[in-house]
Amino acid sequence: MAAEFPIARPRRLRTTGAMRRLVADVAVRPADLVQPLFVKEGIAEPQPVPSMPGVVQHTRDSLRKAAAEAVSAGVGGLILFGIPAAKDHHGSAADDPAGVVQLSLADLKADLGTGTVLMADLCLDEYTDHGHCGVLTETGEVDNDLTLERYASVAIAQARAGAHVVAPSGMMDGQVGVIRAALDGAGLHEVAICAYAVKYASAFYGPFRDAAECAPQFGDRASYQQDHGSRAEALREVQLDVAEGADIVMVKPALAYLDIISLIAGSVHLPVAAYQVSGEYSMIEAAAANGWLDRERAITESLTAIKRAGAGIILTYWATEMAARLR
Ligand code: PBG
Repeated sequence: MAAEFPIARPRRLRTTGAMRRLVADVAVRPADLVQPLFVKEGIAEPQPVPSMPGVVQHTRDSLRKAAAEAVSAGVGGLILFGIPAAKDHHGSAADDPAGVVQLSLADLKADLGTGTVLMADLCLDEYTDHGHCGVLTETGEVDNDLTLERYASVAIAQARAGAHVVAPSGMMDGQVGVIRAALDGAGLHEVAICAYAVKYASAFYGPFRDAAECAPQFGDRASYQQDHGSRAEALREVQLDVAEGADIVMVKPALAYLDIISLIAGSVHLPVAAYQVSGEYSMIEAAAANGWLDRERAITESLTAIKRAGAGIILTYWATEMAARLR
């Protein structure tokens, strides 16, 4: 039956690729993307991470190459994770000026200067023999306030080594305020804090724990990371971090938490970052390796979704590849 008035035809705007491109209102830019990189002390060759095909633990040298490649592809920044040769109860290597992340930050600062943004993940789990993100009490709980003292010291070590941004990821209460005070006290006023403000205890971190060799040796992280059933708490975590001096707030993981990204983006006037974590990466890589989905389309679609939800900055293991493809 013919309509009495012209029916609306949204499909007109989908007729050609050029038309779709013209009307699109969300696009990922290379500069939005931050490349996470792992650097391991005491290895002679880069080591592949079996659960993250395409990702390696770098040597200091191979890290320099990967960083230069990422920057020439146009990424917005790099975030470093270190794996020390020896771990102990307090994670001593984390703030050692001769620790692998500090040496690598200095390498990259020398190579790249202010041509990119150098970020350092600030946590203890890669450095402790028990694999928890902080210092333990006698009874094996993570001691919030003792851990804060360690974080303050790690922040200063990373900033002195050349980090432009420190990114505390341990979910201790008060971590942003303590780190801000420590940096300011050391005259490091210009070093910014990207707070992992909203970090859920997630199954999607599984492959990362291989890459960073930081699986907890007992228990889990549920007493300090957030529960996936809670939403209001995300707002509270962000409010606290903003009040304590965060410069950028991050939500993590990304794909299973797009509603939370959207909520946070609507509630703060700071840049919002999202971390497309290891499990999100490995899931798509594994399905693509089996021929079950189109790898490039799935990558683009997932990154666009994260941007559309409201994240202006995206940490993703595909940063270099995606930036190169977008140029
Ligand atoms: C903690 C940290 C983790 C990730 C980033 N920082 C691991 C954890 O909380 O268990 C996970 C990142 C990923 O899965 O890609 N230092």
